[in-house]
Amino acid sequence: MRARVIVVSVVVAVLALVHSAGAQTPSSFAPAGWDAEFTLHELPDRNPDPRVLEIDLTARVADVDIAPKLRVTAWTYDGRLPGPLIRAKVGDRLIVHFTNQLPEPSTVHWHGVRVPIEMDGVPGISQPAVKPGETFTYDFVLRDAGLYWYHPHHMSAAQVGFGLYGALLVDDPDDSVGVADQLTMVLSDISFDRKGALEAADSGGAAGDVFGREGEHVLVNGRKAPVLRVRSGAPQRWRIVNTARSRYFLLDLQGQKFTVIGTDGGLQERPTTSEVLLITPGERVDVIVAPTGTPGSELPIYSMLYNRGYGSVEYRSIETVLTLAFSQDPTMATPPMPQVSRVITPPSAAGARRVDLTLGLPPMDARGRSEFQVNGVAYPKAKPYLAGLGETQLWVINNDTKWDHPFHLHGYFFMPVDEKGEPIRPMAWKDTINIPMNTIARVLVAFDERPGTWMFHCHILDHAEIGLMGTVHVGPSPPAEHSHSH
Ligand code: C2O
Ligand code: CU
Repeated sequence: MRARVIVVSVVVAVLALVHSAGAQTPSSFAPAGWDAEFTLHELPDRNPDPRVLEIDLTARVADVDIAPKLRVTAWTYDGRLPGPLIRAKVGDRLIVHFTNQLPEPSTVHWHGVRVPIEMDGVPGISQPAVKPGETFTYDFVLRDAGLYWYHPHHMSAAQVGFGLYGALLVDDPDDSVGVADQLTMVLSDISFDRKGALEAADSGGAAGDVFGREGEHVLVNGRKAPVLRVRSGAPQRWRIVNTARSRYFLLDLQGQKFTVIGTDGGLQERPTTSEVLLITPGERVDVIVAPTGTPGSELPIYSMLYNRGYGSVEYRSIETVLTLAFSQDPTMATPPMPQVSRVITPPSAAGARRVDLTLGLPPMDARGRSEFQVNGVAYPKAKPYLAGLGETQLWVINNDTKWDHPFHLHGYFFMPVDEKGEPIRPMAWKDTINIPMNTIARVLVAFDERPGTWMFHCHILDHAEIGLMGTVHVGPSPPAEHSHSH
């Protein structure tokens, strides 16, 4: 699983040489200031060692501008919404001195990163909550290239909803996909009441819990409907993460295509193309686009309606997520799409221990409340599931509810497989997978040498808060019996 080789197709490499003798770095085609409305703040590195990125990160309440003349008070990392972009190279050591200046305890969880358990940021499991005024130092090596993100794991639904999230981009200098103009997009949403105060975390009561609260303002890099300046026909690489508390994004390029080259755990086996892109909470996608349009015109990119359960399409409207503004330059002939591929060795399904997880939602009680359950138990009542160090398991996750759930496992990637245990092609490493209502997902997960109690949960964070969570305890020897498996 760690032997990951990235190869660019020989044919394209040869073509590239023919076209531009010796040109190692791809050319930029973007108009000047093209991404000015998307800039993410980066923090200074305190450490002179080029392989160590050492930063200070402070969570605090701050005023931020989400649109011209729309200044709001949010919960932030370093006064920014989203938090600063943490950008490092694969193999680097990341040290983050975290200070909590919020009115409540918090932690930092590094979503998707294969950290040691002590660095996983789950209060009561991997560390104590960091109380107001306290600090905690996170320190780990970034083993895998890809786009990850960070967010609190204490009162997650509330704190993420209030604005606490940021992107962690781990570059692989060798994965040159041949596109110079690259952008990281952090998708989210947020709500305020009429007085401009953050909407209460429990607005809508039990119905809000079961639906999952979506913010009224849709944001990209903390801005409402920002404008991206592009040259018609020019390729751009977008690294996108959905950090929203509950909202799904179904991006539509209006007949033009996204070339998907990667997802949660870096590049995928080979590219795929599609006209729409579903990004559920917690997921990441790595895409190349080359939108075309009349020079000087604009093309809005919408998030379309997606049915993730009752209330997600009824009386709802599509949202403008961002707008592309074509420069006056004539449409250029799009260079051939790079054939980015990666050799991925899947875990073997043979001998994998099967673990069945059924997600359920029993009827409401007399007070109109309900809790999600995994195998009939709502977290935190559930006992840990068990796995041995180095053991491969086949998780068969049956979503027996009328809601979709983006299922997330901490600390490990998994690989989606079909009924026969064969990897779904193109192969990709995932840590968050949407399980549509009344469907079954199958994933292979190879637990490595990192022991610990790792969470899994729905990344509609309101669902996680009302029971849709569990833990897997990865320990020294494979257990003989699994109380939970069938
Ligand atoms: Cu994004 Cu428990 O995590
Ligand atoms: Cu859910």
